[in-house]
Amino acid sequence: MWRDLLRRAVAPFPLPAAAPAGTAGSAWALACAAAGNGGDDESETAALRARVAALEAELGRAELLLRETNHRAKNAFATIASLVAIELADIRDPKAREVLQLTQERLSAVALVHQALQGSSEDAVLDLGALLKRLGGAVAFSMGAEERGIEVRIATQPVPVEAGAALTLALVANELLTNALKYAFTGRSGGCVELTLRRRAGRLLLRVKDDGIGSAPAPGRRGAAGTGLTLVRRLAEQLGARVRFGGRDGTSVTVSIPCGAL
Ligand SMILES: Nc1ncnc2c1ncn2[C@@H]1O[C@H](COP(=O)(O)OP(=O)(O)OP(=O)(O)O)[C@@H](O)[C@H]1O
Ligand SMILES: [Mg+2]
Repeated sequence: MWRDLLRRAVAPFPLPAAAPAGTAGSAWALACAAAGNGGDDESETAALRARVAALEAELGRAELLLRETNHRAKNAFATIASLVAIELADIRDPKAREVLQLTQERLSAVALVHQALQGSSEDAVLDLGALLKRLGGAVAFSMGAEERGIEVRIATQPVPVEAGAALTLALVANELLTNALKYAFTGRSGGCVELTLRRRAGRLLLRVKDDGIGSAPAPGRRGAAGTGLTLVRRLAEQLGARVRFGGRDGTSVTVSIPCGAL
């Protein structure tokens, strides 16, 4: 009976065609035998142990490969960032510089999510709250919030979110925070930007609110929205989310996502 149970437990993990390095040949033969024929208790136990060892060796190699892949992806992000930086150094046209700087910031947001995913499996679940805290800190720093007297408050609950949705929402938050820090305080000496993430009534609410000059246009208004708010609207649509604009003293944008989409 226990043999059957053990066999069933390891059955979903077929043995590789050849003995993995580090697995004794005799143990390997036993493992193969156990996968097929029956045997006495002792040889079956040894075979199952060998099978576990073989699977552990496979897992070790897979983990090594994943680490290597992550490392390469990180280097690739760094290379792209350097290429953009090199282009920036030679460009004088203010509009072209702005576009490249924005590309750098968007790239950083993607790289940050990738970094948070390191070591996780493909269907990994991330803590969106923690991710947005790091993102908010990075955006505030890169846009010189502190030197400009702008306080960036980040209040997020821990919310487990599937990796794809986490990337989508990190990009949304990146656009909204960037806008607030870029436009809300024109002609002012300081202010406050607040990023909050909380759950309410089966929905996840991501809000970026500032106490600046106001006037952020709703993304649906023709001609009003630029790339950023258009991106916000498209990304929100992917999650079946609603985007609501408001705010009396400043701008407030709330993205309301049905929890089922996460
Ligand atoms: N928080 C805000 N406060 C005041 N104005 C805002 C705010 N957010 C957006 N806006 C206004 O809305 C416009 C459209 O924003 P959007 O992000 O779509 O485009 P953009 O920022 O101009 O371009 P891009 O995102 O490509 O840099 C901005 O140009 C700005 O005038
Ligand atoms: Mg923008």
